[in-house]
Amino acid sequence: MKPPTQGHALILAAGMGTRMKSSLSKVLHPLVGRTMVGHVVASAKAVGLQPVVVVHHQEDAVRAALAESGAMFVRQEHTRGTGDAVASTLSVLPKEGTVVVMAGDAPLLRPSTIEKLLQCHGDAAVTVLTVCLDDGAHYGRLERDGEGAALRIVEAREASPEQLALTEINTGLYCFDVAWLREVLPTLQPHAHKDEIYLTDTIEIAAQQGRVRVVIHDDFSEVQGVNDRWELSGARQVLQRRIIEGHARAGVDFIAPHTNVVGVDVVVGQDVSIGLGSVLEGTTKIGAGTQVGPHCHVINTVIGTCVNLHSHSVCEDAKIEDGSSVGPFARLRPMAHVGTGAKVGNFVEMKKATLGAGAKINHLSYVGDAVIGESANVGAGTITCNYDGFSKHKTTIGAGAFIGSNTALVAPVSVGQGAIVGAGSVITKDVPQDAVSVARGKQIDRLDAAARFRSRKKS
Ligand code: UD1
Ligand code: CA
Repeated sequence: MKPPTQGHALILAAGMGTRMKSSLSKVLHPLVGRTMVGHVVASAKAVGLQPVVVVHHQEDAVRAALAESGAMFVRQEHTRGTGDAVASTLSVLPKEGTVVVMAGDAPLLRPSTIEKLLQCHGDAAVTVLTVCLDDGAHYGRLERDGEGAALRIVEAREASPEQLALTEINTGLYCFDVAWLREVLPTLQPHAHKDEIYLTDTIEIAAQQGRVRVVIHDDFSEVQGVNDRWELSGARQVLQRRIIEGHARAGVDFIAPHTNVVGVDVVVGQDVSIGLGSVLEGTTKIGAGTQVGPHCHVINTVIGTCVNLHSHSVCEDAKIEDGSSVGPFARLRPMAHVGTGAKVGNFVEMKKATLGAGAKINHLSYVGDAVIGESANVGAGTITCNYDGFSKHKTTIGAGAFIGSNTALVAPVSVGQGAIVGAGSVITKDVPQDAVSVARGKQIDRLDAAARFRSRKKS
């Protein structure tokens, strides 16, 4: 990411977005690992622009969502249109130079497109990015004269039938000469239709001065605005496809790419295979050669190389080392750490627990607040009883220990290195190193008692 050297990017995010029909401000809606406005801020930063976000509706929530981003914020006192939004930022902008204006509800814009616009801007007062569509829908239309020179932008709701039929639409991405904006913005008049000041009215003024430039872009998917939930799903699809294609071209195999969800910050190594329906989110990292089975959900988890994450496993804030095997149907909760070459089998839940290299918990167990040594074997149905109803307690199992099936380890408790615990034990005291410990009811064998019982019942 380049340091902010190219000037400022104003990001208009003060509107509520009533068409979303949501209690959440439009620009805060989640989109593949970031908020909508978070994507716009990231694109601005990627080209070295200092983001300045214009806020009003749910101002505190927008500020909080972008707190780590390095963005500056300006409050628009009354949301009186896009022209008023830009006017409210003039006090924080330098006296002159170039400023980029972006809409907080256009999250798919690529940094390269902003760069292209900046390169074309030169000494124009305003440069606007347009796209040609068969149906211009609710977008503003660019009107040109007989020679093709730009005249003005007309909003769809105020356009005549002839203007509505125009196919070149305003994407809402512009470069402005700041000194010129300072002169022009105060002269704009509100439109009776919505009592709003339109930033788009600056185009006509610049056109009259011969100082407007238009850059026609060929990829509508990149500039489409999000105004309702259906457009949000459309944006999600475009962004998702872009991310997955990027990984695929870098050597990741997606078995059924249209069924996967991969967050924007997820890192995936070469020769990784991602199965049908798997979802990778947050800061997840996956090392080379790992297989992620069908229907896995992986959140903020670091997975090493050549791991086999079998189907239907759910991992959150966990760590899985190289060459290990997890699942099917495993659940790794926060701070679960699976060591190199270790095995976690079906219906095993781990939380705040470390499994040493080569150790195994193959079936049906709960292991929480525990440290398990290298090459230990934890039998089917083992439970670490870590909670007494008030606080959590720790279980330690030494290297090479063997825990028989259906054992309850009542924490705090430890099992020494190389010890063996008999199946069905309830272990309440520490087991010494290399001991064999059994803690269960003694077996009583009453010979022939079953036969006697049956003959009694028959007579
Ligand atoms: C705007 C353009 C339209 C263009 C379209 C592209 C105007 C008048 N129209 O229309 O030509 O085709 O974008 O997507 O500019 N906002 C504020 N303060 C306000 C009003 C809006 O910050 O007072 C923000 C909104 O939060 C939103 C962005 O500006 O993120 C655009 O506003 P919106 O109302 O969505 O404009 P459109 O009708 O889409
Ligand atoms: Ca919009």
